[in-house]
Amino acid sequence: MITLSEEHRMLRAMVREFAEKEIKKESQENDKAHRFPVGLVKRMGELGLMGVAIPEEYGGSGLDNLAYAIAVEEVSRGCAGTSVIMSVNNSLVGDPLLRFGTPEQKQKYLKPLAKGEKIACFMLSEPQSGSDATHQKTTAQKKGHQYILNGTKNFITNGPQADFGIVFAMTDPSQGAKGVSAFIVEKGWKGFRVGSIDEKLGILCSGTSQMHFDNCEVPEENLLGKVGEGIKIAFSTLDGGRIGIGAQALGIAQAAMEAAITYAKERKQFGRAIGDFQAIQWILADMATSLDATRLLVYQAANLKDQGKPYAIAGAKAKLFASEVAMEVTTNAIQVYGGYGYMKDYPLEKYFRDAKITQIYEGTSEVQRIVIARSLLKD
Ligand code: CAA
Repeated sequence: MITLSEEHRMLRAMVREFAEKEIKKESQENDKAHRFPVGLVKRMGELGLMGVAIPEEYGGSGLDNLAYAIAVEEVSRGCAGTSVIMSVNNSLVGDPLLRFGTPEQKQKYLKPLAKGEKIACFMLSEPQSGSDATHQKTTAQKKGHQYILNGTKNFITNGPQADFGIVFAMTDPSQGAKGVSAFIVEKGWKGFRVGSIDEKLGILCSGTSQMHFDNCEVPEENLLGKVGEGIKIAFSTLDGGRIGIGAQALGIAQAAMEAAITYAKERKQFGRAIGDFQAIQWILADMATSLDATRLLVYQAANLKDQGKPYAIAGAKAKLFASEVAMEVTTNAIQVYGGYGYMKDYPLEKYFRDAKITQIYEGTSEVQRIVIARSLLKD
């Protein structure tokens, strides 16, 4: 059983109020207009949400990973498009910069990122390389004191808005997975440009795009970690990122369940509230049970990371379970709403669309099952 500290409870109350008063007010409009929530991102920076588990000396809030999971859960209750912008800054970029960055890289990139002054992106996927992430085609050739990058990255969250990002590229294609290295690249550098913007099903206020490298010159001091460490950096980063996506799925499902409960009490059919019917009661009971189980898995994974214990498998289980629950709960919440749930006037269809991506990004449900099964079968 995971006990929340006073600090965790205060954080939850603070982020819940932010989600209720500020995020929910504009989430449906931002979704409709596919509008990046500039004001909310600024507010998340002011509230310390862009670097929750980053130490204060690097501009973060200095809290733990459980606090980070709680913050993502609550922001996601308000809007999952907004929460993914936050989670990329925190776990996909902030975390590897903290673990592998040089003191100079931490000052230059981590600090403004954690303060929310800069937005960043994580560039691993390529058009031909999604789940099969070690098969990178982007290359980085050493030339004097620079690396010359060429290639295309795909489905990059925050790509259109990011000030900088971490990119993975082959420094030695003959070495396969061991030939991949990680680099920090800045927007505006010659040869680095945003490609086509993706039209998506959900999380519509967040930006997603291709990113192109055409002979982009990257100074050697922007190598992150050591040459050949790229896949290790990417996969260990995703281990933590998956806890965040589990928390995101949890927050979406929580919002959908709360809406379904409210509606079940208000909506009258056949002369009584639909919540009086056992058909609806059983749906709500199953939702509440699944959500409790999800919360335990997500918090447990975060807690293991906080204790310095192995958390990759717990994170994979949390993400797998949470994202499947999010799809089930959001689907059933629409069912409780009936026709109204299908309409854009209510947030239910948005929860459903947003939930779907949690089964796909930062490793599909199938990839999580590979990770979990390998741990069961290894010698
Ligand atoms: N931490 C550190 N190193 C790890 C690791 C981990 N968790 N898992 C594996 N490695 C190492 C391995 O030890 C191996 O190195 P050695 O050869 O030196 O031992 C190397 O990485 C390759 O590992 P595998 O042989 O296990 O790799 P694989 O090709 O069999 O793939 C996989 C396994 C689980 C399918 C993996 O490729 C994977 O997780 N794929 C999914 C990728 C993914 O999650 N992409 C998400 C993109 S980012 C995103 O979605 C962001 C966003 O939009 C918000």
